Amino acid sequence: AATGDFANRLLDWYDREARTLPWRVPPGSRAVPDPYRVWLAEIMLQQTTVAAVTGYFTGFTALWPTLADLAAADDADVMAAWAGLGYYARARNLLACARAVVADHGGHFPDDEAGLRALPGIGDYTAAAVAAIAFGRPAVVVDANIERVVARHRRIEVPLPAAKRAIRAALAPFVPAARPGDFAQALMDLGARICTPRAPDCAHCPIADDCRVRGTSDAVRLPVKPPR
Ligand code: ADE
Repeated sequence: AATGDFANRLLDWYDREARTLPWRVPPGSRAVPDPYRVWLAEIMLQQTTVAAVTGYFTGFTALWPTLADLAAADDADVMAAWAGLGYYARARNLLACARAVVADHGGHFPDDEAGLRALPGIGDYTAAAVAAIAFGRPAVVVDANIERVVARHRRIEVPLPAAKRAIRAALAPFVPAARPGDFAQALMDLGARICTPRAPDCAHCPIADDCRVRGTSDAVRLPVKPPR
């Protein structure tokens, strides 16, 4: 297949195989993603697995269904609801961010990466993810799963973390303007389900055709870990 339809092959697979997750709008649905829910999920998913986050996400959104509700919450209640998720600075920044969006942005998240990055607790990754998933911006989203998929597909031999630049550069031309959020989440799901760290299932991979390491031992070797 032509590399030009990289995004289409991935999106077709996602349309069939997307994980159903409580912060997602299913592919093909006409529903509009709620930026508050997208942001909350991305903060919780930093350094934390999908399995661990799901119950916390459901609990938070039951207690505080909107950004305004969370911004008005007592700090102690939020810290108590976060207990067990770890990395507690995330919870403190979560409240600071919710309150900043209410105080400085009329209760609406900025809809681009630069505006998002200026908020407490939102770094490059989270800004890109929220811009793409909640606002349809063609941001280049790269988390650890996406790093692994792209390092293998393009056979990037530079060790992490230096490889990040090459990975972003390799991915950027393929981000589709029409569905950047689904594209990012398709790569995440591919990394979680098919292009796994130790046992990639190349036979079922929708982008195996032009993958430089497909079915070889290079697949499990890449990405090259930092020397330690
Ligand atoms: N990890 C980080 N963000 C995610 C998302 N939106 N879906 C699944 N896994 C993720």
